[in-house]
Amino acid sequence: MTTAPAKIRKAVFPVAGLGTRFLPATKACPKEMLTVVDRPVIQHVVDEAKAAGIEHFVFVTGRNKGVIEDHFDSQFELERTLEDRGKTAELTVLREELPAAGQTSFTRQQAALGLGHAVWCARDIVGSEPFALLLPDMLHYSSRPCLASMMEAYGEVGGNLVAVSPVPEDQTQNYGIVDVEDAKAGVSEIKTMVEKPKPGTAPSNLHITGRYILQPEIFDILETQGPGAGNEIQLTDAMLRLLGRADQPFHSVRFDGELYDCGSKIGFLMANVAYGLAREGLGDELREEITKHLDKKSG
Ligand code: G1P
Repeated sequence: MTTAPAKIRKAVFPVAGLGTRFLPATKACPKEMLTVVDRPVIQHVVDEAKAAGIEHFVFVTGRNKGVIEDHFDSQFELERTLEDRGKTAELTVLREELPAAGQTSFTRQQAALGLGHAVWCARDIVGSEPFALLLPDMLHYSSRPCLASMMEAYGEVGGNLVAVSPVPEDQTQNYGIVDVEDAKAGVSEIKTMVEKPKPGTAPSNLHITGRYILQPEIFDILETQGPGAGNEIQLTDAMLRLLGRADQPFHSVRFDGELYDCGSKIGFLMANVAYGLAREGLGDELREEITKHLDKKSG
């Protein structure tokens, strides 16, 4: 590629999912607002996007998700109270983290027709520029944020990229799976991909971890994309069609950090343990308490 690829300014966050696996917690509270330590899951993912230089945050929401919009807005009464009580540290955190005016957009997916459909709902807001896509269920824990590494690879190869990492063979049917030219390379050309392959049919053990950089041509493809696995409009099926085009480079970027699937109870609980242990001023005490607790149970 001779000219630098177009800058990625916008990131899309599909947050319309119902979160049935976490009922009753998610009856009135969106699953994206459940907390890992003291930050909602969605805030962790927005932090990752910010660290990668994203300037505009596009949320594809649904019914009962209004509180996500409130979370990324200023809270006048709360700020006033903190000010009156001299809680400057807390106030500073709130103010520093508030997106600037006009930096967020919200649109609604009116029916749960699948991830491909959710992404397509963002087409007008994204427009004709490449964009990042981050699935909020998946927390990517790493000293170098996943999307930042992908941006670096994008600067080299341009086009479309997905983050991948190996999963045990018996779990391939739960994910999008890609087959690549060189499975050991950090960045590799993608040969093919399939969404939730039937057991024993996966072309490799590399799964799509929920971080993408996509060219806007994906929207035209999604417009005509029929239902696939689970009878849902699948993003992976649309990406496979994009991959078939000569003008659309498609690469995998290997993610070597730790993954926590906050859409599952065990992933969510382990995310709390891992992020808690890593948190300054909390980690040591948490480690002691967990050790004490385990000793008591086994003793
Ligand atoms: C989605 C994607 C899948 C990807 C997964 C990562 O599936 O369709 O390709 O591997 O996220 O979490 P879902 O988890 O929505 O079934």
